[in-house]
Amino acid sequence: MSVAILQIHPVFVGEVSGADITRPLAQDEVAAIEAGMDRYAVLVFHDQNLTDEQQMTFSRNFGALEDARGGNIGKPEDRRLEVGMNDVSNLGKDGRPMERESRQRLFNLGNMLWHSDSSFRAIPAKYSLLSARVVNPTGGNTEFADMRAAYDTLDADTKALIEDLVCEHSLMYSRGSLGMQDYSEEERAMFRPVRQRLVRTHPVTGRKSLYLSSHAGAIIGMPTPEARVLLRDLNEHATQPRFVYVHTWRRWDLVMWDNRQMMHRVRRYDEAQPRDMRRTTVAGDAPTTTQVEAA
Ligand SMILES: [Fe+2]
Repeated sequence: MSVAILQIHPVFVGEVSGADITRPLAQDEVAAIEAGMDRYAVLVFHDQNLTDEQQMTFSRNFGALEDARGGNIGKPEDRRLEVGMNDVSNLGKDGRPMERESRQRLFNLGNMLWHSDSSFRAIPAKYSLLSARVVNPTGGNTEFADMRAAYDTLDADTKALIEDLVCEHSLMYSRGSLGMQDYSEEERAMFRPVRQRLVRTHPVTGRKSLYLSSHAGAIIGMPTPEARVLLRDLNEHATQPRFVYVHTWRRWDLVMWDNRQMMHRVRRYDEAQPRDMRRTTVAGDAPTTTQVEAA
């Protein structure tokens, strides 16, 4: 059986059949999936009963895995999963839902804001791959918004205004918008803002997209309130229902998306119940703009 992709949303998103990603893939299967990513930007695979090892092996077909350090406040000794796996569950090391006041839990709530994974890194992520191991009984959908369609539908004046703008992204901006202002010196250094272009061009298709994320909190050369108003406007435009796909998880779904062309967010769910979601992240290969060292 060969890989087939059916578009399941008017604008983007493909559902893949004919692929068993728990096994090593042939080169033409990898090429078909990568071409599907370029076109649909989100791919949905059902019934993929993966181990962490298999998920990492599948992910490496598309590039090196991202080094997860600097992306969270958790300490290495508190990790539930091995290096290479991003734990986006609501579970502690003991396998139970985290306490309400857990700083880790509160930090993770930032995933409920529209964002692009790792936009706070100088070289941001290419793909994310999310595997549903335990689905929460209530809520927890993941939503995706197509930043190419968002860009295409801007008016000409706005396109001209933003063409060369550069934003600052930091985990402290996204968490700050949730009222988390309290960081150690070490965390402040780790979360130091990086620069990202506001308009990106896809390296294969040449399509332009908005590069938005809740991590974006400033625009170079623009007063902060003006920048935030512009970013809010763009976010509002980009996340209209017509550009959004809502994924309702089934156990053993794997969804992969192109962070260069998409934003996503998870919706609220019953946090007294487990939600075990495991992410691998394929690293990007270049910064979107020149970084300037802080004085
Ligand atoms: Fe995310």
